[in-house]
Amino acid sequence: MRIVLLGAPGAGKGTQAQFIMEKFGIPQISTGDMLRAAIKAGTPLGLKAKEVMDQGQLVSDDIIIGLVKERISQDDCAKGFLLDGFPRTIPQADAMKDAGVPVDYVLEFAVPDEEIVKRMSGRRVHPGSGRVYHLVYNPPKVEGKDDVTGEELVIRADDEESTVRKRLAVYHEQTAPLIDYYKQEAEAGRTRHYKVDGTQSVEQVSRELTDILS
Ligand code: AP5
Repeated sequence: MRIVLLGAPGAGKGTQAQFIMEKFGIPQISTGDMLRAAIKAGTPLGLKAKEVMDQGQLVSDDIIIGLVKERISQDDCAKGFLLDGFPRTIPQADAMKDAGVPVDYVLEFAVPDEEIVKRMSGRRVHPGSGRVYHLVYNPPKVEGKDDVTGEELVIRADDEESTVRKRLAVYHEQTAPLIDYYKQEAEAGRTRHYKVDGTQSVEQVSRELTDILS
């Protein structure tokens, strides 16, 4: 099962990726998490990516395509994978197609921009695992702590409102065209495209995804 999660920043991709990963036993590949790990490790790629991410812009296609190609060639991806945050541009989608990597499901999360701005102010993350929480909608069992490790949760550097608005603008300009791209792929029988109402509760969205993927 090769799945692409498509949606604006904050639409709930990372939250549902954790659910799908556990439910269906396939690895989550989050390009955002990979880049944040490179930043934390202080690698040359991380230093370059930090500047771009802090401004709410996209990291270059070449870098991202290289990262993803390497990751999906690893053994744990043999039975499938879940792409969270990739592809994010038409050239990224084309690169995957040209490399002969099929996509079985494209799951589009629809959430209005203003709802996203509200959500981001309450987001807390566990940097080690990528687990995502929300102060109100999806709180951790113990305030400020990750449910599994008990480690501190943090606020992401790019969750400040002005950066979120920039990321939304970039999404509409560069990533939203992928919706039509994958609709056309679905019409040609090369993938299945489903649009999910991402404003439902976390549990309702998970149930809908389970129905689709089962
Ligand atoms: P990335 O880390 O991929 O961020 P994003 O796509 O902007 O998405 P987010 O992680 O912000 O949101 P999400 O949809 O996962 O929502 P979440 O589940 O957390 O990318 C960061 C940066 O890296 C980019 O800006 C770019 O610079 C770079 N980058 C990454 N990939 C790239 C690529 N392919 N090409 C180029 N550059 C790339 O949910 C958000 C909040 O809402 C949480 O608090 C959650 O608890 C809550 N929530 C979730 N679902 C619900 C619900 N149903 N109801 C209420 N609250 C909910």
